Amino acid sequence: MDKIIQNSEDVIRVGNEIFVPLITEAEIQKRNAELGKEISKDYKSKLPILIGVLNGSFVFLADLIKNISIKCEVDFFKLSSYGDQKISSGHVKLLKELNADINDRHIIIVEDIIDSGLSMKFIMDMLAQSKPASLKVASLLVKPGSLKYDLKIDYIGFEIKDKFVIGYGLDYAQKYRNLRSIYVLNE
Ligand code: IMP
Ligand code: MG
Repeated sequence: MDKIIQNSEDVIRVGNEIFVPLITEAEIQKRNAELGKEISKDYKSKLPILIGVLNGSFVFLADLIKNISIKCEVDFFKLSSYGDQKISSGHVKLLKELNADINDRHIIIVEDIIDSGLSMKFIMDMLAQSKPASLKVASLLVKPGSLKYDLKIDYIGFEIKDKFVIGYGLDYAQKYRNLRSIYVLNE
């Protein structure tokens, strides 16, 4: 059985594949503090709703809101596009709808990672129909090399190379979301 415990070598072995450290827990938390501060400043005297895209964003969103010093609300919806593969299926499905009424509200969509941008494009088009007062995007990770859609990403944690990553909410076949830092597939 694969062990998820971070060993002394600090690599994650998944069958024959090896994931190596990419972004440490300390680096992530430092960036979260900066983003939280920026959002608090930008939305001063507003009441934003942070909308997390499940499942991947829940760890980032939880840490991010702890760094936001103004009042805010949180909601989630669920999308699926990857199945259990490392390559996107190219299809996006809405699996859980929003509960909040977002008409005339200030929305910040919170994602774990933007790869091709297909999911974010789908989300933005869908939310725009409800006529929010404003619509911004916060993504912990962005892979600029694989972006296929013209998206404005307002808050970016880290730009990374076009390689598969796990940890801190990001999964491989639904596992490894509980790693405290981010690991990249060693190819
Ligand atoms: P996109 O629609 O191609 O931008 O893919 C976005 C979604 O794919 C993200 O919300 C993630 O759930 C997933 N994803 C993209 N790249 C990775 C990765 O490197 N590791 C884990 N999940 C990823
Ligand atoms: Mg996701």
